[in-house]
Amino acid sequence: MSYQISIQKTQNPKNKPDQDNLGFGQIFTDHMFIMDYTEGKGWHDPRIVPYGPLSLEPSTMVFHYGQAVFEGLKAYKTEDGRILLFRPRKNMERINISNERVCIPKIDVDFAVEACKTLVSVDRDWIPEAEGTSLYIRPFIISTDPFLGVRPSWTYKFIIILSPVGAYYKEGINPVKIYVESEYVRAVKGGTGYAKTPGNYAASLIAQVKAKELGYTQVLWLDGVEKKYIEEVGTMNVFFKINGEVITPSLDGSILAGITRESTIELLRASGIKVTERKITIEEIYNAHEAGTLEEAFGTGTAAVISPIGELSWNGKVIKINDGKIGETASFVYNTITGIQSGKIEDKFGWTVEV
Ligand code: COI
Repeated sequence: MSYQISIQKTQNPKNKPDQDNLGFGQIFTDHMFIMDYTEGKGWHDPRIVPYGPLSLEPSTMVFHYGQAVFEGLKAYKTEDGRILLFRPRKNMERINISNERVCIPKIDVDFAVEACKTLVSVDRDWIPEAEGTSLYIRPFIISTDPFLGVRPSWTYKFIIILSPVGAYYKEGINPVKIYVESEYVRAVKGGTGYAKTPGNYAASLIAQVKAKELGYTQVLWLDGVEKKYIEEVGTMNVFFKINGEVITPSLDGSILAGITRESTIELLRASGIKVTERKITIEEIYNAHEAGTLEEAFGTGTAAVISPIGELSWNGKVIKINDGKIGETASFVYNTITGIQSGKIEDKFGWTVEV
């Protein structure tokens, strides 16, 4: 498919933010990408325009039934001035997996990557360079028919916005305290857990609020049927190191196939560390802790990259992992992946794509 992206530059460029206090997802760049879909016509009119509000009728379907998908990836500026994206095709392939689940028409993967590159290039001066910062790229698709009946929409918008970001958690790369949620579930097999669709995140909020009130940073999600098997941590995939072996829950329909998860598995295996994808129960983690074989636990995701878990609380039983300190595997994965992303470490995997 070949499309021509039109570019309308802003007349009022904004001031760039202080790179040492970016936080996450609070500041947006000067431009955004938009493309429309109309039944019978397909995806059309790709354009880059000044960042600003959308005008949508209150009856727009996405507001009522949440037929939408999103992605997240990052751009980095290297010390020699190149701009790198991390595995962007993976995100665009995954948005199509999400699209299929919620009946949104697929997008052309190569064109979507091209759209990201073009937008990042237009706003290249917004890519922060301070340690631990990057330009977060948020592609998303919303259903836009003004209609209150429940059916797939006939019109959509594919939008990409950019946000210069620092650490996702205020703890940064320091370990977080996690509450094991035994009442609410995030997703079930047959549901939308494997898709990156807003409803999954809405469903997670109540447990996140509860965890915060109890003094924890995030929630560890158990399976929706037996509340026994570990699924995800917060918005991230989760890894445990027991007796030298790294274990992560296998993807069984209710877990998101994280790109940082896949990269972590590939990196550890390439480094000679045994990684197993299988079902793992919360009881097994507590038993390993009791036996002294639980060495590390950490979450993986695009936003935080790696977030070590320093403490778990499950049904009133609290355990400390690795003395509440970051472990050597989590440090290795964090340093290597962020090193490759920012061009400081040679990319032997071919993960980065230059803009
Ligand atoms: C990620 O870990 O990248 C996420 O999914 C978080 C995002 C929803 C902000």
